[in-house]
Amino acid sequence: MAHDNNLGFDTICIHGGHKPDAHRAHLTPIYASSTYLFDSAEQAAAIFKGEEKGYVYGRFGNPTIAEAEEKIALLEGFGIMDEKGEPLQPRAILHASGMSAITTMLLANLKSGDKIITHPSLYGGTQELLDKVLSTLNIEAIIVDFHDLSLVEKTIKSNKSIRLMYLETPANPTLRCVDIAALSLLGKTNGLVVCVDNTFATPCLQQPFRYDVDFVMHSTTKFLNGHGTAIGGVLVGRDKDRMNTIVTKTHRLLGGNSNGFDAFVLTNGLRTLGLRMSRHGDNAIHVANYLSTHNSVDRVNYLGLSKHPDYELAKKQMKHPGAMMSFELKGGYHAGVQFINALKLCTHAVSLGTCDTLISHPASTTHAGVSPEKRIAFGITDGLIRMSVGLENVEDILQDLEQALLAIK
Ligand SMILES: Cc1ncc(COP(=O)(O)O)c(C=O)c1O
Repeated sequence: MAHDNNLGFDTICIHGGHKPDAHRAHLTPIYASSTYLFDSAEQAAAIFKGEEKGYVYGRFGNPTIAEAEEKIALLEGFGIMDEKGEPLQPRAILHASGMSAITTMLLANLKSGDKIITHPSLYGGTQELLDKVLSTLNIEAIIVDFHDLSLVEKTIKSNKSIRLMYLETPANPTLRCVDIAALSLLGKTNGLVVCVDNTFATPCLQQPFRYDVDFVMHSTTKFLNGHGTAIGGVLVGRDKDRMNTIVTKTHRLLGGNSNGFDAFVLTNGLRTLGLRMSRHGDNAIHVANYLSTHNSVDRVNYLGLSKHPDYELAKKQMKHPGAMMSFELKGGYHAGVQFINALKLCTHAVSLGTCDTLISHPASTTHAGVSPEKRIAFGITDGLIRMSVGLENVEDILQDLEQALLAIK
C-alpha cells in the first residue's frame, strides 16, 4: 500500500505495508528461503551496488519481514509532519528480539569513550546490557532522575562525552513516565541522539516521533504482536539515510534478523492493534478502579488514576493510560504467593501485551535474585503484583481477581 495521508490509524494497521503477492495470495506468505535468485550476473551486480531493488539473503530481509517493517514505520509516523512539512516517513528494521533492536541502535550510534544518559527503572534486560556489556566496551551509562530537568541539563553540559539519551516510558513495573517533549528538546539542543523504548504504549497510545526523537524501539513480543506467538523487536529511525547506511550495516553484521514466521504472526497481530489497545484500555480502567477500592490492596500504580505521580504527564503525551498496572497487596510476600496460586482465569506468566490477562509476582520470580533493599528502591516491594490487562470480558477478570484476593489468609 502506497503512503496515503488520508487513511486512519486502524486502516493502516490492516492494510499498511501490504504489497500484492506474485501468486495472488491474500496474505503475504511466509518466505522460508535463505537466499534469492538473480536473473543474470549483471542484475546481481546492480542489486549489490544498490542500483536495483531486490532481495539477496535472508539475514538482510525478505518480503514477509518487509511488510511488518513498513506497517510499523507507517504507524509510528502516523499523522506527523517532518521539518519540510511533508508526512514523516521513518524506516523500521525488524529484529529477532527487542534486545536485539536496542543493541543495534546502541552500537550503530556509539563508540568507545561515549556515554549514555538515562533514568532509573529501565527494563531489567536493558539495564543489564548497559551495565554488563556496554561498560566492557568503555561506554558508560550515567543514570539521573529524568523528572529533574535542570539536573539532566547540568549533567549533559558538564559531560561532553554524553552522546545518547535513552528513555523508556512508561516504565516497568511502577509505570513511571518521563517527559518526552522536554527531554527530547534538551537532548537535541545539546546534540544528543535521542531514543525511546515505546513498548508499553505502542504507537496507538504514544508517538515519540512527535517530539523530534531520533529512534523508537519496541519489543514486538508484547502488544504489537498481541498474541504471544513470537519474540521480536523493531528499531524505527526518523532519518532514512542513517537507517539505510550505518544502522542497516550494524543490523546485518550483528545478525539479529527476524524470520518469515515471526514476521507473519507479527503482521497478523498488528492488523488489530488499534482495536485491541482500545479494549485493553477500557478493561484496565475497570480493573484499576476495582482494585483501588479493595481492602486487601494498599496501592494501585495505574496511569489513569489521578493519584499516580505521572497522571498529568501521561495525559499530556499518551492518548490513553494503557493496559499495564501494578498493585501492592497489604499482606506482603506471602499474600503475593497466595494470590497468584489462587488465580483461575488470569495467566500466571511473565511478559505482557497478550490478549489474555497476564499476572506476575516480581518478588518471587523475575526479581527473586535481586537484594530486597535494591528491589524496594526500584519500587518492587514484596507484595507487588504486575498485571497486563487482557481482552477477556471484564466481569470475568474482576471475578477471578475477587476470588484470588479472598483466598489470601
Ligand atoms: C520495555 C521493554 N523493552 C525491551 C524488552 C526486551 O524485549 P525482548 O524480550 O523482546 O527482547 C522488554 C521485554 O520485556 C521490555 O519490557
